[in-house]
Amino acid sequence: MAATIYVNGRITGERDAVIPVLDHGFLYGEGVYEVMRTYQRRPFLYGQHIERMRKSAGMINLDVPYTNAALLAEIEMTAAAFDETRGDAPRAEEIYIRVLLTRGVGQMTYDPAACPVPTLVIIVKPQVDPPREAYEKGVKVILVPVVRNHPFSINPLIKSNNLLNNALAAQYAMRLGGFEAIMRNYRSEISECSQSNLFVVKDGAVTTPPIEAGLLAGITRAFVFGVGRACGVRVAEATLTDADLFGADEMFLTSTTREIVPIVTVDGSRIGTGVPGPVTRRLLQEFRRQVAALEP
Ligand code: PDD
Repeated sequence: MAATIYVNGRITGERDAVIPVLDHGFLYGEGVYEVMRTYQRRPFLYGQHIERMRKSAGMINLDVPYTNAALLAEIEMTAAAFDETRGDAPRAEEIYIRVLLTRGVGQMTYDPAACPVPTLVIIVKPQVDPPREAYEKGVKVILVPVVRNHPFSINPLIKSNNLLNNALAAQYAMRLGGFEAIMRNYRSEISECSQSNLFVVKDGAVTTPPIEAGLLAGITRAFVFGVGRACGVRVAEATLTDADLFGADEMFLTSTTREIVPIVTVDGSRIGTGVPGPVTRRLLQEFRRQVAALEP
């Protein structure tokens, strides 16, 4: 099903959505984005996503000239236009919402003064969940040689449209049949995956690399700390190395569009028993219980 796309107030189908070539988002990858999804057709953790977008934008000295409510109104307008494209067919159950804010159009200079008006893009399409098999059997991931951006270079805390680091890592994993790529940081500690955060389980305790390891502060990652508290599973931050991965009892990844996906092999080596473990399953069950209980 095709996407409906908003570009600076103009809503079209995906074939007609256009950005000027001199947009610095296109020229230089200067921009930030968020990916949200709905449950019961409401954007999940909307406030947290927009707060992170403001932080990302602040880290590249980009102003977000919208209130949360104004931005939500534009998203809802795009979602309504998306529903209209469905005609009499049943509307999509849940939707995927990608919000991008770029530096805007201007002459070819790095001076932000050349681009007084940022470009706002909203992409709405159906939320496509990972295949059921991914949750039931777990997925294979690859520990890739692509190093996650150094925080003093392009800080991974910036959810930047400049995604070459992530794309190179993901493509390396894809070539080897991996569902995801695990990256290390410049100190060879584990950081995160190309589009998701990573957790390991050892002796019943769940750990994930600290923000200081150079990674995106995932909204789902933060939510999973609360999910753990709600179902009696300890979740904490800890520096992780390769040995922690290969010695783990269980492992899983988290993201907005994927929720909690069990990992059963890394580079072909079996993790734990090679099937999704009890702690991962408990967290996923509690996660799903909480989102099913949300108000429509
Ligand atoms: N990816 N790490 C990276 C590098 C990411 O791009 C993402 C999100 C995450 C997980 O963050 P969250 O839980 O807030 O979704 C971690 C989104 C979904 C994407 O790019 O499609």
